[in-house]
Amino acid sequence: MNSAKLIFDGKEVELPVTVGSENEAGIDITKLRSMTGAITLDNGYANTGSCTSTITFIDGEKGILRYRGYPIEELAEKSSFIEVCYLLIFGHLPSEDELDNFKHDLTHHSLIHEDMKKFFEGFPPSAHPMTVLSSMVNSLSAYYPESEYEEDQYLNIIRLLAKLKTIASFSYKKSIGQSYVYPQNHLTYCADILNMLFAVPSAPYDVPKVLEDALDLLLILHADHEQNCSTSTVRMVGSSEANLFASIAAGINALSGPLHGGANQKVIQMLQMIKDDGSNYKKYVNMAKDKESKFKLMGFGHRVYKNFDPRANILKDSADKVLNELGINDDPLLEIAKNLEEIALKDDFFIEKKLYPNVDFYSGIIYRAMGIPTNMFTVMFALGRLPGWIAQWLEMKDAPGARIYRPRQIYMGETKRIYKKK
Ligand code: ACO
Repeated sequence: MNSAKLIFDGKEVELPVTVGSENEAGIDITKLRSMTGAITLDNGYANTGSCTSTITFIDGEKGILRYRGYPIEELAEKSSFIEVCYLLIFGHLPSEDELDNFKHDLTHHSLIHEDMKKFFEGFPPSAHPMTVLSSMVNSLSAYYPESEYEEDQYLNIIRLLAKLKTIASFSYKKSIGQSYVYPQNHLTYCADILNMLFAVPSAPYDVPKVLEDALDLLLILHADHEQNCSTSTVRMVGSSEANLFASIAAGINALSGPLHGGANQKVIQMLQMIKDDGSNYKKYVNMAKDKESKFKLMGFGHRVYKNFDPRANILKDSADKVLNELGINDDPLLEIAKNLEEIALKDDFFIEKKLYPNVDFYSGIIYRAMGIPTNMFTVMFALGRLPGWIAQWLEMKDAPGARIYRPRQIYMGETKRIYKKK
């Protein structure tokens, strides 16, 4: 598997093959255009490798997901989200000292500049928290300029990880007209998020352990997923040497779409719509099968996983546990979700097209049970995905021979014509 031969326009060219550590083969077309004059065309990039990477391995056919070599199932069971952040960004699991220092740094950079609170005031209460989140992350570069020194880069990474949860929670409090709850140094990363979301100044609030653990798991499962839409966006923007905050803000915007991270919110909205329509879920399954209707079952299907999504498997078990512990067993939306899942897993259309419930199907259900408002679901996803984006941004920046991303196109428009006004 050292090379591949291509015959184009009567001429044979030999292209080198790059084989990854898991034996995945990529035909290297770096010189294709100079050798043949042609480019490749790959709608949606489903066959295109945009980089080599050492961060995350996915085998969609076998349902495998590993961060830095560690299976997601093991990380979900044995690690905390903060350990996973460290693993993704620095490439190895932290020692006790490394973890203590990392936690200390994250705890002591969680406050945002007081002036930034004025930005929140400028948004209408109806603003989607993802819009507020990306705007605020973008504005962080005004407070913490880029620097070529490694210590400053580390500090900006810490600031981003520490402040994103504060920004996310403030945007929620603003949207419901409550006062901001400041980060608390004695709380863990996930407990702090929940405290900032749910505490009010007028009453004590103890973060329930079941919610803290559920959030930790959800964030671990979302922490990286190789070259998906938002991560590729982070790399694309970063490849122009745009700063970390600008690159991550772009990733947040990419994640907001309903075909990507926005799907977790859309799952609940879809279940509500089915309930309001008399809980006739079979009607919606039939609509999803009818190409003319353009209706898709949100939370089903995945570009990469064609057997099952390993994150969905973990969350399916967790959903049962969390709902049990919270004593929720009569949620009508949950009932519809279970029926949809059951019917879709047995239906020939879904089996043939390899459409299985994805991670967002179950994460939406768990977030709802936890009391997280629906419009915050995608924000929670962004909190989880942040370490992955940072790791990918660093890898892109430090890759040997890094170049600005600049795909080409096949032009199908008008050929040269005479300029004439109508
Ligand atoms: N409901 C009904 N039909 C579907 C669904 C669905 N959820 N998903 C795919 N299909 C159909 C497509 O119409 C297509 O049919 P065709 O072969 O007749 O043209 C076929 O299954 C293959 O699907 P594609 O759209 O080609 O798959 P692609 O890889 O482009 O899209 C995606 C994957 C975007 C996830 C898609 O399955 C989808 O839109 N799902 C719903 C949204 C969703 O849950 N997104 C979250 C993804 S997970 C994440 O981002 C963390």
